[in-house]
Amino acid sequence: MPTSSVPTTLPARYYTDPDYFREELERFYCQTWICAGRTEQVQQPGEYFLREIAGESVIVTRDRENKLQAFFNVCRHRGTRLCATSQGKFDGRIQCPYHGWTYGLDGSLIGAPHMHDGFCREEYPLNRVALDVWDGNIFINLNPQPDSLASQLEDLPQKFANWGMADLRMHRRIEYQVKANWKLMVVNYNECLHCPILHPSLSAISDYLSGENDEPHRGYIGGTMDFQGGAQTMSKDGSLRRDYLPGLTAEERSKVYYYAVFPNLFISLHPDYVMTHTLWPRAVDRTDVICEWHFHPAEMAKPNFEADDAIEFWDTTNREDWAISELSHAGIKSRAYKPGPYSRCESLPHAFDRMVLEREAEGIGKKT
Ligand code: FES
Ligand SMILES: [Fe+2]
Repeated sequence: MPTSSVPTTLPARYYTDPDYFREELERFYCQTWICAGRTEQVQQPGEYFLREIAGESVIVTRDRENKLQAFFNVCRHRGTRLCATSQGKFDGRIQCPYHGWTYGLDGSLIGAPHMHDGFCREEYPLNRVALDVWDGNIFINLNPQPDSLASQLEDLPQKFANWGMADLRMHRRIEYQVKANWKLMVVNYNECLHCPILHPSLSAISDYLSGENDEPHRGYIGGTMDFQGGAQTMSKDGSLRRDYLPGLTAEERSKVYYYAVFPNLFISLHPDYVMTHTLWPRAVDRTDVICEWHFHPAEMAKPNFEADDAIEFWDTTNREDWAISELSHAGIKSRAYKPGPYSRCESLPHAFDRMVLEREAEGIGKKT
């Protein structure tokens, strides 16, 4: 008979209630830093991409000084969405398609046709979104007065400095639409008990009971896994087709580090590449995922560079994870579902659930 000390999964409403989902979007995706993309996506002044979250659209671009900027995609005249194409390059300015109000790449209003005498353009810049960068990863925060990104990341920048993420370049991006609550994908990412059943190829090269978990932190959870069967990286046959990333210690070359940085970034640090997932919740039961593979430019420049071994391996694994997350969501919706017991090997999912409950108790994002 279960005792109250046995940790259990969360009640169904955390995964199925649209009202709770709206609160949670506010709490995790509007009041904290979320990973929006990579600095290399916007290299020149005027290059931009959009990110949509919680019904908001955010423009991430570079101004004339090459400084990264983020703005709400909302005109200050009559509120129109300024830009409808998900990525591209502004021609030195951002012009509203409705009545032609025009903004500089720094967000200042530089043209407002037909406004009355005495109209003060300085009073109508674009609404700024906080932006900061960690090692090539762009973070945005919709809270107008956010805590620092550094305080949210805690010791991660030092911990992962050796992978040199800012130096890496994206080789491939695959986007997925998953019919599951975003938190089910976080808990799935943070345990490998399911690996022998769900991921036969992964289990051939990585021991599902190996590795060590880090002490859970307020802003992240994660741990390592070791290779097995002579594998040296996570790929179709486990063999290393690229040099180790420069800067890694012998220990760092010998395992994979899997970290979920709350709320929306998974970083999987391999000896020869880094894979990232960002989660974009669209509804209580729907999540878009962007998965990217980043390699060292010196390797990518080699004529015999290849990466399909890593991409196809993880694309298959991703699809297995999304399919089980969808089944998980479908089961949790049932009237028969009750919170079930976690084993000792599921300490990270339990730590994530605890964090979800703690943040709820703090009341952030609650409608008053
Ligand atoms: S709404 Fe943008 S110029 Fe009128
Ligand atoms: Fe998995």
